[in-house]
Amino acid sequence: MKTLRRWWLALVVAACSSEQVTPAREEPRDTTLPRAVDLNPAPGAIEINLEAAPTSKQYLPGTTTTVSAYNGTIPGPLIDARVGDRLRVNFRNSLAQPTTIHWHGVRLPATMDGSLAMQNPIAPGATFTYEFTFRDAGLYWYHPHVTGDLQVHRGLYGIIRVRGADEPAVDHEEIVVLGDVKLKPDGSIDEYLDDNSRMLGREGRIVVNGAVTPRFRVRAGSRVRLRVLNVANGRFFNLKIPGHTLTVLGTDGGFYPKPLAREQLVIVPGERYDVMIVPRGDVGSEIPVINTAYDRGHDTAGRADETIASLVIDGAASDGGPLPTAMPSATPLPDRPVDQTLALGEKLLDGNMLFTVNDRVYPDVPPIVVPTDAVRAFEVKNTSEMDHPFHLHGAFFQVVSRNGVAVPAAELIDKDTVIVPQKSSIKLLARYDAASRGKWMYHCHILEHAEGGMMGEVHVE
Ligand code: C2O
Ligand code: CU
Repeated sequence: MKTLRRWWLALVVAACSSEQVTPAREEPRDTTLPRAVDLNPAPGAIEINLEAAPTSKQYLPGTTTTVSAYNGTIPGPLIDARVGDRLRVNFRNSLAQPTTIHWHGVRLPATMDGSLAMQNPIAPGATFTYEFTFRDAGLYWYHPHVTGDLQVHRGLYGIIRVRGADEPAVDHEEIVVLGDVKLKPDGSIDEYLDDNSRMLGREGRIVVNGAVTPRFRVRAGSRVRLRVLNVANGRFFNLKIPGHTLTVLGTDGGFYPKPLAREQLVIVPGERYDVMIVPRGDVGSEIPVINTAYDRGHDTAGRADETIASLVIDGAASDGGPLPTAMPSATPLPDRPVDQTLALGEKLLDGNMLFTVNDRVYPDVPPIVVPTDAVRAFEVKNTSEMDHPFHLHGAFFQVVSRNGVAVPAAELIDKDTVIVPQKSSIKLLARYDAASRGKWMYHCHILEHAEGGMMGEVHVE
């Protein structure tokens, strides 16, 4: 483990010094997540070996946790790419269970999407080659799409960063992976699905970049871009950094027309946010990153604030430069009447709580059939007393209204995962282009709800 650690640290250092986010007055700093090793020297081509396997990890002092991981680390190796790059992944399943890899948010051919609508599970000991070209800049992630609630919870998740032509100028970029793991006192993962875990998704201890309360080193006065994503099964995060305004550049697949200033930011499972802050404080001081209560139903409103990470000021920037004031944003899709309503609900059957779409439990949910090169309007209606994060595979969508009230033009953006609060509805427009032929899943990204039936398919024909 030690040598492996030194080996990837060397790689990180090598990668950082060859990469320039911005023409730097000072060397921009970059995330220290472990990186995938590109086996293909050709420009525009990335080839990686990826293996899912059991391994052990120390989450809590004095205990060892048996986990599942991609290439031995949680999060798995960061895949860094540019728009237009072609990725080839030589994947080996060394788990005792079948698995697949889904590339959350990435637009790719349906046969590469890793959902059971298009791919047979990869058996233990078997291999599969995923291959596709990145079309869109953004932060994405990869995870299994077979018994996802258990496999993701055991540690199978990794990050993909795709850079485009319009990256903002920054001094420092960190990828902040918000996760959650439910542990027993002996350190082993608590996989038992009790009633609470079924309702809210398994919740346990918050881990950030696979660690309990990690520290990120930052310079006061510098422009720090935090690319935050939520890989937890069920936990909703509501982040704040006391004394600091969050400048929210974008989410999921793009940028807002102008950055939004926020004091708090709710991030639901599967969702990503692109945030800038300028740290303030004396050298040596620590700025806490706090998860504050958010009412998503079922008595979640009164939870205490929790420090989940901190920013340690280890110097001052010589010249931070201005934050971006405008970013290239999405073109609005043509509005149209609702084509399909999807009611997200729950029902009790023989003492078991099931999660439903239009009162039916997947796979007993009729597919939505859409022609290629079409825009479709979906109304997603939450009839339950808890929020659900709605995720669509294979297409970006734009939320145009909430409870019938138009979303302001300042919030126009392409998304793939969105909160649908309890007892409310949203209307979204999804665009299916010529490359999107195939079968695509949609589901609640509380993985226990998805596995419990709140899932369906869009067939693009
Ligand atoms: Cu990240 Cu079908 O999910
Ligand atoms: Cu849900």
